[in-house]
Amino acid sequence: SLDLKHTRLFRSPSNTDDMAEEAKKLAGYAAVDNHVQNNQVVGVGSGSTIVYAVDRLAERVRQEKLNIVCVPTSFQVSVRMCLLSAVLCSSSLTPYQLDVAIDGADEVDAALTLIKGGGGCLTQEKIVASCAKHFIVIADFRKDSSALGQQWKKGVPIEVIPMAYVPVSRTIAKRFGGEAVLRMAVSKAGPVVTDNSNFILDWKFEHIHNWKEVNIAIKMIPGVVETGLFVGMAERVYFGMEDGNVGVR
Ligand code: 5RP
Repeated sequence: SLDLKHTRLFRSPSNTDDMAEEAKKLAGYAAVDNHVQNNQVVGVGSGSTIVYAVDRLAERVRQEKLNIVCVPTSFQVSVRMCLLSAVLCSSSLTPYQLDVAIDGADEVDAALTLIKGGGGCLTQEKIVASCAKHFIVIADFRKDSSALGQQWKKGVPIEVIPMAYVPVSRTIAKRFGGEAVLRMAVSKAGPVVTDNSNFILDWKFEHIHNWKEVNIAIKMIPGVVETGLFVGMAERVYFGMEDGNVGVR
């Protein structure tokens, strides 16, 4: 059952960005409180929403003296997790199956299909999620969608081996339509390089697809490492809502 202890905040946020920030916190706290227990191995996703889950984990580890091992999905979250007095371990080193993985998402549809990878960590995120008994997603109300593409306008992130980005981009456009664009660094000085030293293509698709089939087909293109389509993986999603409540799907 949902522990409502942290699901209402008493500050009245003044604008959508503030509300979204509060919503991220609500979702992160709800997921940690409902799915993390002592003696677990916990996968920790990446992005801005997961920061609140990490903060709550750190608080619980300190207060309840939890004995947990955490498996981070990016350099970004590893740095944040230095807050935690918990053991950090990579997925290649942990001898245990992960009990639970918690992560954010860029968009979540009605069937719990996700677009992930806005922060470029999709490959490690998918590996960690696939190793967990339970994969729990946390998101603010802006990520909730009836069909992928309605909320997240930047397309499906696809991690590619650098030498293959042009042929992969052409193949995707030819076979599935739309445009797969190389993600550039904010400075525009060059492409974004992932933690795995690869590039990211953002596939701006034109219409709704059968995501399970498209995901498999894109993965078969030589040079593709992973896609940001998470199909049939999420077990539960906590949405922080504008009204201070938490929606569960
Ligand atoms: C990073 C991700 C993130 O989980 C996703 O982009 C959501 O990020 P945020 O919580 O900042 O909205 O997939 O690769």
